[in-house]
Amino acid sequence: MTIAVRSFAKINLGLYIGARRADGFHELRTVYQTIALHDVIRVSVEPTGGRARNANDSRAIEILCDDPRVPLDSSNTCHRAAALVMEALGLRGRVTIGIEKRLPVQGGLGAASSNAVATMLALERALKKKVADATRLRIAAQVGSDLPLFLIGGTALGVGRGEQVYPLPDLPSIPMVIVTPGIGVSTPKAFADWDEMVVGEKAGGVRVAWTGEGARPQIGEGELTHSGGSDRMTEVGRALSAWLCCNPETGAPAKGGGRAGSLLSDLVRAGIENDFEKVVFPEFPELRDMKRALVRAGARYASLSGSGATLYGLFESEKAAVKAAHELRKRGLKATATRTLTRREYWKWWLLRGS
Ligand code: C5P
Repeated sequence: MTIAVRSFAKINLGLYIGARRADGFHELRTVYQTIALHDVIRVSVEPTGGRARNANDSRAIEILCDDPRVPLDSSNTCHRAAALVMEALGLRGRVTIGIEKRLPVQGGLGAASSNAVATMLALERALKKKVADATRLRIAAQVGSDLPLFLIGGTALGVGRGEQVYPLPDLPSIPMVIVTPGIGVSTPKAFADWDEMVVGEKAGGVRVAWTGEGARPQIGEGELTHSGGSDRMTEVGRALSAWLCCNPETGAPAKGGGRAGSLLSDLVRAGIENDFEKVVFPEFPELRDMKRALVRAGARYASLSGSGATLYGLFESEKAAVKAAHELRKRGLKATATRTLTRREYWKWWLLRGS
Protein backbone atom coordinates (compact mmCIF):
# COMPACT_ATOMS: atom_id res chain seq x y z
CA MET A 1 0.00 0.00 0.00
CA THR A 2 1.13 3.55 -0.70
CA ILE A 3 1.06 5.97 2.21
CA ALA A 4 0.68 9.63 1.21
CA VAL A 5 1.51 12.35 3.70
CA ARG A 6 1.69 16.12 3.76
CA SER A 7 5.17 17.44 4.35
CA PHE A 8 4.58 20.88 5.85
CA ALA A 9 7.05 23.76 5.68
CA LYS A 10 8.42 25.91 8.49
CA ILE A 11 9.52 29.47 8.98
CA ASN A 12 11.95 30.86 11.54
CA LEU A 13 10.61 33.55 13.85
CA GLY A 14 14.01 35.05 14.59
CA LEU A 15 17.28 33.23 14.11
CA TYR A 16 20.38 34.01 16.06
CA ILE A 17 23.71 32.57 14.89
CA GLY A 18 26.19 32.02 17.69
CA ALA A 19 29.68 30.68 17.80
CA ARG A 20 31.10 28.20 15.32
CA ARG A 21 31.68 25.02 17.27
CA ALA A 22 34.55 22.55 17.14
CA ASP A 23 32.40 20.25 14.95
CA GLY A 24 32.01 23.04 12.37
CA PHE A 25 28.33 23.68 13.16
CA HIS A 26 27.09 26.95 14.59
CA GLU A 27 25.26 27.35 17.86
CA LEU A 28 21.72 28.56 17.05
CA ARG A 29 18.74 30.04 18.79
CA THR A 30 15.53 30.15 16.81
CA VAL A 31 11.79 29.74 17.09
CA TYR A 32 10.51 27.34 14.45
CA GLN A 33 6.92 27.63 13.32
CA THR A 34 5.21 25.20 10.99
CA ILE A 35 3.04 26.67 8.23
CA ALA A 36 0.20 25.37 6.08
CA LEU A 37 2.12 25.05 2.77
CA HIS A 38 3.35 21.56 1.99
CA ASP A 39 4.85 19.03 -0.40
CA VAL A 40 3.31 15.57 -0.73
CA ILE A 41 5.38 12.46 -0.01
CA ARG A 42 4.24 9.00 -1.11
CA VAL A 43 5.97 5.94 0.28
CA SER A 44 5.50 2.28 -0.57
CA VAL A 45 7.58 -0.67 0.55
CA GLU A 46 7.96 -4.28 -0.44
CA PRO A 47 9.78 -6.21 2.26
CA THR A 48 12.32 -8.58 0.68
CA GLY A 49 13.10 -10.61 3.78
CA GLY A 50 16.43 -11.04 5.51
CA ARG A 51 18.02 -8.52 7.80
CA ALA A 52 19.61 -5.26 6.76
CA ARG A 53 23.31 -5.11 7.48
CA ASN A 54 23.69 -1.34 7.78
CA ALA A 55 22.27 1.95 6.55
CA ASN A 56 24.28 1.70 3.32
CA ASP A 57 22.51 -1.54 2.53
CA SER A 58 19.90 0.51 0.77
CA ARG A 59 20.27 -0.12 -2.94
CA ALA A 60 16.55 -0.81 -2.94
CA ILE A 61 15.56 2.78 -2.16
CA GLU A 62 14.19 4.62 -5.15
CA ILE A 63 13.25 8.30 -5.27
CA LEU A 64 10.82 9.63 -7.84
CA CYS A 65 10.52 13.37 -8.38
CA ASP A 66 9.97 15.34 -11.54
CA ASP A 67 11.70 18.48 -10.22
CA PRO A 68 15.23 18.39 -11.72
CA ARG A 69 16.65 20.26 -8.71
CA VAL A 70 15.83 17.39 -6.36
CA PRO A 71 18.61 14.76 -6.14
CA LEU A 72 17.41 11.20 -6.65
CA ASP A 73 20.46 9.49 -5.13
CA SER A 74 21.62 8.81 -1.59
CA SER A 75 22.42 12.52 -1.06
CA ASN A 76 18.66 13.12 -0.82
CA THR A 77 17.63 13.51 2.85
CA CYS A 78 14.63 11.20 2.23
CA HIS A 79 16.97 8.45 1.02
CA ARG A 80 19.16 8.74 4.11
CA ALA A 81 16.21 8.86 6.49
CA ALA A 82 14.57 5.79 4.87
CA ALA A 83 17.83 3.81 5.01
CA LEU A 84 18.26 4.60 8.69
CA VAL A 85 14.66 3.63 9.51
CA MET A 86 15.08 0.30 7.70
CA GLU A 87 18.31 -0.27 9.58
CA ALA A 88 16.76 0.64 12.96
CA LEU A 89 13.97 -1.85 12.31
CA GLY A 90 16.45 -4.45 11.03
CA LEU A 91 14.52 -4.81 7.77
CA ARG A 92 15.32 -5.11 4.09
CA GLY A 93 12.96 -4.06 1.41
CA ARG A 94 12.34 -2.12 -1.76
CA VAL A 95 11.27 1.39 -0.73
CA THR A 96 9.81 3.81 -3.25
CA ILE A 97 9.56 7.47 -2.26
CA GLY A 98 7.62 9.88 -4.46
CA ILE A 99 8.17 13.59 -3.86
CA GLU A 100 5.55 15.98 -5.20
CA LYS A 101 7.32 19.33 -5.02
CA ARG A 102 5.29 22.39 -4.26
CA LEU A 103 7.68 24.10 -1.83
CA PRO A 104 10.78 25.94 -3.06
CA VAL A 105 14.05 23.99 -3.17
CA GLN A 106 16.80 25.56 -0.99
CA GLY A 107 14.18 28.09 0.03
CA GLY A 108 14.67 28.34 3.79
CA LEU A 109 11.31 26.67 4.44
CA GLY A 110 12.90 23.39 5.57
CA ALA A 111 11.33 21.45 2.71
CA ALA A 112 14.10 18.84 2.34
CA SER A 113 14.11 18.26 6.12
CA SER A 114 10.36 18.07 6.28
CA ASN A 115 10.33 15.64 3.32
CA ALA A 116 12.75 13.38 5.20
CA VAL A 117 10.64 13.32 8.37
CA ALA A 118 7.50 12.72 6.31
CA THR A 119 9.33 9.80 4.66
CA MET A 120 10.24 8.33 8.06
CA LEU A 121 6.68 8.56 9.36
CA ALA A 122 5.13 7.26 6.14
CA LEU A 123 7.59 4.38 5.94
CA GLU A 124 6.79 3.29 9.49
CA ARG A 125 3.11 3.31 8.55
CA ALA A 126 3.70 1.40 5.34
CA LEU A 127 5.67 -1.21 7.29
CA LYS A 128 3.12 -1.19 10.14
CA LYS A 129 6.07 -0.92 12.51
CA LYS A 130 7.18 1.78 14.90
CA VAL A 131 10.62 3.10 15.60
CA ALA A 132 11.10 4.07 19.27
CA ASP A 133 10.61 7.83 19.80
CA ALA A 134 14.20 8.33 20.96
CA THR A 135 15.56 6.46 17.91
CA ARG A 136 13.39 8.50 15.58
CA LEU A 137 14.74 11.71 17.09
CA ARG A 138 18.31 10.42 16.84
CA ILE A 139 17.86 9.51 13.16
CA ALA A 140 16.28 12.88 12.43
CA ALA A 141 19.14 14.81 14.07
CA GLN A 142 21.68 12.62 12.26
CA VAL A 143 20.20 13.43 8.85
CA GLY A 144 20.05 17.20 9.41
CA SER A 145 19.71 20.01 11.95
CA ASP A 146 16.25 21.04 10.77
CA LEU A 147 14.62 17.60 10.89
CA PRO A 148 13.67 17.17 14.57
CA LEU A 149 11.38 20.20 14.57
CA PHE A 150 9.10 18.31 12.16
CA LEU A 151 8.69 15.58 14.79
CA ILE A 152 7.09 18.24 17.01
CA GLY A 153 5.25 20.67 14.74
CA GLY A 154 3.59 23.94 15.77
CA THR A 155 5.81 26.41 17.62
CA ALA A 156 9.15 25.05 18.84
CA LEU A 157 12.34 26.47 20.26
CA GLY A 158 15.47 25.28 18.45
CA VAL A 159 18.86 25.35 20.16
CA GLY A 160 22.21 23.60 19.74
CA ARG A 161 22.82 23.37 16.00
CA GLY A 162 19.04 23.67 15.66
CA GLU A 163 18.42 19.97 16.22
CA GLN A 164 17.55 20.28 19.91
CA VAL A 165 13.91 21.21 19.88
CA TYR A 166 11.48 22.05 22.63
CA PRO A 167 7.75 22.41 22.06
CA LEU A 168 6.60 25.90 23.04
CA PRO A 169 3.04 26.86 23.90
CA ASP A 170 1.51 27.06 20.45
CA LEU A 171 1.06 30.46 18.91
CA PRO A 172 -2.39 31.04 17.48
CA SER A 173 -2.62 30.55 13.73
CA ILE A 174 -1.32 33.77 12.12
CA PRO A 175 -2.21 34.83 8.56
CA MET A 176 0.88 35.27 6.42
CA VAL A 177 2.26 35.82 2.94
CA ILE A 178 5.20 33.92 1.51
CA VAL A 179 7.29 35.44 -1.27
CA THR A 180 9.40 32.91 -3.19
CA PRO A 181 12.01 34.72 -5.26
CA GLY A 182 13.15 31.66 -7.25
CA ILE A 183 16.70 31.93 -5.91
CA GLY A 184 18.32 28.96 -4.13
CA VAL A 185 20.53 29.93 -1.19
CA SER A 186 23.09 27.37 -0.02
CA THR A 187 22.91 27.13 3.78
CA PRO A 188 26.57 26.04 4.23
CA LYS A 189 27.64 29.00 2.09
CA ALA A 190 25.48 31.40 4.10
CA PHE A 191 27.12 30.13 7.31
CA ALA A 192 30.58 30.50 5.71
CA ASP A 193 29.71 34.08 4.68
CA TRP A 194 28.58 34.71 8.25
CA ASP A 195 31.92 33.52 9.61
CA GLU A 196 33.75 35.75 7.18
CA MET A 197 31.63 38.74 8.21
CA VAL A 198 32.17 38.08 11.92
CA VAL A 199 35.94 37.80 11.43
CA GLY A 200 35.89 41.10 9.52
CA GLU A 201 33.86 42.80 12.22
CA LYS A 202 36.04 41.41 14.96
CA ALA A 203 38.98 42.98 13.23
CA GLY A 204 37.03 46.24 13.16
CA GLY A 205 35.68 46.09 16.73
CA VAL A 206 32.15 45.35 17.81
CA ARG A 207 28.99 44.19 16.17
CA VAL A 208 25.47 45.20 17.12
CA ALA A 209 23.54 42.05 16.62
CA TRP A 210 20.12 42.15 18.20
CA THR A 211 18.91 45.48 17.05
CA GLY A 212 15.31 45.65 18.18
CA GLU A 213 13.89 48.34 20.38
CA GLY A 214 13.52 46.06 23.41
CA ALA A 215 17.01 44.63 23.54
CA ARG A 216 20.04 46.28 22.05
CA PRO A 217 23.14 44.54 23.34
CA GLN A 218 26.54 45.70 22.19
CA ILE A 219 28.71 42.66 21.80
CA GLY A 220 32.42 42.97 22.37
CA GLU A 221 34.87 41.18 20.16
CA GLY A 222 35.92 37.74 21.30
CA GLU A 223 32.42 36.84 22.37
CA LEU A 224 31.29 35.97 18.92
CA THR A 225 33.46 33.08 17.95
CA HIS A 226 35.11 31.86 21.13
CA SER A 227 32.94 31.92 24.21
CA GLY A 228 29.69 31.15 22.43
CA GLY A 229 28.55 34.74 22.79
CA SER A 230 26.94 33.86 26.10
CA ASP A 231 25.82 37.41 26.95
CA ARG A 232 24.16 37.69 23.59
CA MET A 233 22.58 34.26 24.09
CA THR A 234 21.11 35.51 27.37
CA GLU A 235 19.75 38.64 25.68
CA VAL A 236 18.26 36.57 22.90
CA GLY A 237 16.66 34.21 25.42
CA ARG A 238 15.21 37.20 27.25
CA ALA A 239 13.88 38.79 24.07
CA LEU A 240 12.34 35.51 22.92
CA SER A 241 10.64 34.77 26.21
CA ALA A 242 9.42 38.35 26.50
CA TRP A 243 7.89 37.98 23.10
CA LEU A 244 6.50 34.48 23.55
CA CYS A 245 5.08 34.69 27.05
CA CYS A 246 4.41 38.22 28.06
CA ASN A 247 3.50 41.67 27.06
CA PRO A 248 6.89 43.29 27.67
CA GLU A 249 5.32 46.55 28.77
CA THR A 250 3.04 45.18 31.45
CA GLY A 251 4.71 41.84 32.10
CA ALA A 252 1.29 40.26 31.79
CA PRO A 253 0.76 37.20 29.62
CA ALA A 254 -0.86 38.14 26.34
CA LYS A 255 -4.14 36.29 25.87
CA GLY A 256 -7.57 36.43 24.33
CA GLY A 257 -8.77 37.08 20.81
CA GLY A 258 -6.28 39.87 20.17
CA ARG A 259 -3.34 37.60 20.86
CA ALA A 260 -2.12 37.36 17.27
CA GLY A 261 -2.11 41.16 16.92
CA SER A 262 -0.40 41.61 20.27
CA LEU A 263 2.15 38.93 19.39
CA LEU A 264 2.99 40.70 16.19
CA SER A 265 3.61 43.97 18.04
CA ASP A 266 5.70 42.16 20.64
CA LEU A 267 7.69 40.42 17.94
CA VAL A 268 8.68 43.76 16.44
CA ARG A 269 9.25 45.39 19.83
CA ALA A 270 11.47 42.58 21.09
CA GLY A 271 13.66 43.04 18.03
CA ILE A 272 13.43 39.44 16.88
CA GLU A 273 15.53 39.22 13.73
CA ASN A 274 17.10 36.67 11.44
CA ASP A 275 20.90 36.99 11.41
CA PHE A 276 21.10 35.42 7.95
CA GLU A 277 19.66 38.66 6.50
CA LYS A 278 23.00 40.30 7.26
CA VAL A 279 24.85 38.09 4.79
CA VAL A 280 22.13 37.07 2.35
CA PHE A 281 20.70 40.58 1.67
CA PRO A 282 24.06 42.08 0.61
CA GLU A 283 24.48 39.21 -1.86
CA PHE A 284 20.91 39.38 -3.16
CA PRO A 285 19.76 43.02 -2.64
CA GLU A 286 16.46 42.26 -4.38
CA LEU A 287 15.50 40.19 -1.31
CA ARG A 288 15.75 43.25 0.93
CA ASP A 289 13.44 45.05 -1.51
CA MET A 290 10.96 42.17 -1.32
CA LYS A 291 10.98 42.34 2.47
CA ARG A 292 10.25 46.08 2.22
CA ALA A 293 7.48 45.35 -0.29
CA LEU A 294 5.88 42.97 2.24
CA VAL A 295 5.95 45.68 4.91
CA ARG A 296 4.54 48.24 2.48
CA ALA A 297 1.77 45.77 1.63
CA GLY A 298 0.77 45.76 5.30
CA ALA A 299 2.86 43.03 6.98
CA ARG A 300 3.23 43.74 10.68
CA TYR A 301 6.43 41.72 10.72
CA ALA A 302 8.52 40.52 7.77
CA SER A 303 11.67 38.43 7.59
CA LEU A 304 13.82 36.07 5.63
CA SER A 305 13.09 32.45 6.59
CA GLY A 306 16.14 30.38 7.55
CA SER A 307 18.96 31.16 5.13
CA GLY A 308 16.39 32.16 2.51
CA ALA A 309 15.63 33.01 -0.12
CA THR A 310 11.97 32.81 0.93
CA LEU A 311 10.59 35.88 2.69
CA TYR A 312 7.47 35.97 4.75
CA GLY A 313 5.22 38.60 6.23
CA LEU A 314 2.82 38.14 9.14
CA PHE A 315 -0.54 39.90 8.97
CA GLU A 316 -3.28 40.77 11.40
CA SER A 317 -6.05 39.23 9.35
CA GLU A 318 -6.57 36.72 6.56
CA LYS A 319 -8.20 39.46 4.51
CA ALA A 320 -5.12 41.68 4.80
CA ALA A 321 -2.84 38.76 3.84
CA VAL A 322 -4.92 37.82 0.78
CA LYS A 323 -5.05 41.47 -0.36
CA ALA A 324 -1.28 41.88 0.12
CA ALA A 325 -0.51 38.69 -1.82
CA HIS A 326 -2.69 39.95 -4.64
CA GLU A 327 -0.92 43.34 -4.69
CA LEU A 328 2.52 41.73 -4.61
CA ARG A 329 1.62 39.39 -7.49
CA LYS A 330 0.51 42.42 -9.51
CA ARG A 331 4.02 43.79 -8.96
CA GLY A 332 5.48 40.59 -10.43
CA LEU A 333 6.38 38.80 -7.18
CA LYS A 334 5.52 35.16 -6.55
CA ALA A 335 3.41 35.68 -3.44
CA THR A 336 1.12 33.20 -1.69
CA ALA A 337 -1.23 33.85 1.20
CA THR A 338 -1.25 31.12 3.82
CA ARG A 339 -1.08 30.88 7.61
CA THR A 340 0.91 29.34 10.40
CA LEU A 341 -0.07 25.86 11.52
CA THR A 342 -0.59 24.90 15.15
CA ARG A 343 0.74 21.61 16.51
CA ARG A 344 -2.74 20.17 16.69
CA GLU A 345 -3.43 21.03 13.05
CA TYR A 346 -0.04 19.70 11.99
CA TRP A 347 -0.77 16.27 13.44
CA LYS A 348 -4.40 16.31 12.37
CA TRP A 349 -3.54 16.86 8.72
CA TRP A 350 -0.19 15.14 8.14
CA LEU A 351 -1.73 11.88 6.91
CA LEU A 352 -3.24 12.32 3.47
CA ARG A 353 -4.01 8.72 2.52
CA GLY A 354 -3.29 5.30 3.98
CA SER A 355 -4.10 3.74 7.31
O1 C5P B 1 22.48 19.98 9.51
P1 C5P B 1 22.36 20.35 8.07
O2 C5P B 1 22.67 19.21 7.15
O3 C5P B 1 21.12 21.04 7.72
O4 C5P B 1 23.52 21.43 7.84
C1 C5P B 1 23.98 21.75 6.56
C2 C5P B 1 25.25 22.55 6.71
O5 C5P B 1 24.95 23.85 7.25
C3 C5P B 1 26.27 21.96 7.67
O6 C5P B 1 27.13 21.08 7.01
C4 C5P B 1 27.01 23.19 8.16
O7 C5P B 1 27.95 23.59 7.19
C5 C5P B 1 25.94 24.25 8.18
N1 C5P B 1 25.32 24.42 9.51
C6 C5P B 1 26.02 25.11 10.48
N2 C5P B 1 25.45 25.31 11.71
C7 C5P B 1 24.21 24.83 11.97
C8 C5P B 1 23.48 24.12 11.00
C9 C5P B 1 24.07 23.94 9.77
O8 C5P B 1 27.15 25.57 10.26
N3 C5P B 1 23.68 25.06 13.17
